[in-house]
Amino acid sequence: MKTIVGGIEQIGYGAELLRNGEVVAFPTETVYGLGADAFNARAVAKIFEAKGRPQDNPLIVHIADPADIGKVAASVPETAVALMEVFSPGPLTLILPKREDLPETTTGGLRTVGIRIPNHPIARALIRAAGCPVAAPSANVSGRISPTEARHVLEDMDGRIPLILDGGCSDIGIESTVLDLSKEVPVVLRPGAITAEMLSVYLGKVVDFKGKVLIAEAPGMKYRHYAPTCACQAARSPEVAAREARRRMEEGARVVIIGSTPFVRACGDLPVIDLGNTPADCMRNVFSAMRNAEKTADLLLLEDFSDRREFYSLQNRLSKSTGGVVLS
Ligand code: TXA
Ligand code: MG
Repeated sequence: MKTIVGGIEQIGYGAELLRNGEVVAFPTETVYGLGADAFNARAVAKIFEAKGRPQDNPLIVHIADPADIGKVAASVPETAVALMEVFSPGPLTLILPKREDLPETTTGGLRTVGIRIPNHPIARALIRAAGCPVAAPSANVSGRISPTEARHVLEDMDGRIPLILDGGCSDIGIESTVLDLSKEVPVVLRPGAITAEMLSVYLGKVVDFKGKVLIAEAPGMKYRHYAPTCACQAARSPEVAAREARRRMEEGARVVIIGSTPFVRACGDLPVIDLGNTPADCMRNVFSAMRNAEKTADLLLLEDFSDRREFYSLQNRLSKSTGGVVLS
């Protein structure tokens, strides 16, 4: 199959492909998604095939307008309506009971469904033009680093899908916050740019931050994620990163250190990629940095952010890339 990369002029073609049961990659503000008609089980099966994704890992269903939530969810609690009003369109996915007619292929066999309204003009125009809710995981091969640019999608999906819509770099750079509202107590299944603190205002005392943040494992979390094609470890400090980099380089390894501006500046004249100063900068740049670095490196050394609360969502991803290995 030939894979075309197009811009906004291809939205109409993309919508036609979706209506015809094909798979289309499209930009969102978090990461690129690999979409199919959420109600067409055979189309959705093509997503799993293109990604090599385990069948029991549920997909997020994307809609363009809050009014469409009832097309996917069997019931919509008041909390969900309130959260949608504040945070949608945006990087928040809500887990709700699914409608009977939504195929279980889409929800990985679960009775619930994740729903999100992306805040990217191309994503919303595509969903509107297709006229159906669009199931879409991140557009990477399962287990690989999530794509934040069209060229990342092409690296993983060339020849496997007919169309990639190019909408530039994803603004946020890590995936949406996943909040499960199907249980009595709301649970953050995956942290993201919308933090538990931001949600807590609307969830009242349900989410308690004084030691009782409710975090559970999303089904997808048991698999290795965000894995570069080369080795990848975290370093507690610039000194540790620099020492390890020099040691490995003496053995002939090619090493790249990736971290925030102060961290990489403190690494001296070693090969580094600077992610920027703020948590937002670092989230936006991290996946692209890893994909660039893995092309030439044998080892990536990532800054460990685990002591810094503002970097919580970023650290959540990095600890999966490293498999939890931290040098100190
Ligand atoms: O930002 C995002 O959410 C991106 C863009 C494309 O929208 N999508 C994305 O999809 O990250 P994916 O499939 O890579 O991650 C979805 C996560 C998985 O960990 C999955 O297990 C969880 O959400 N999830 C989806 N539906 C669920 C459900 N019904 N119950 C529990 N977890 C669910
Ligand atoms: Mg993913």
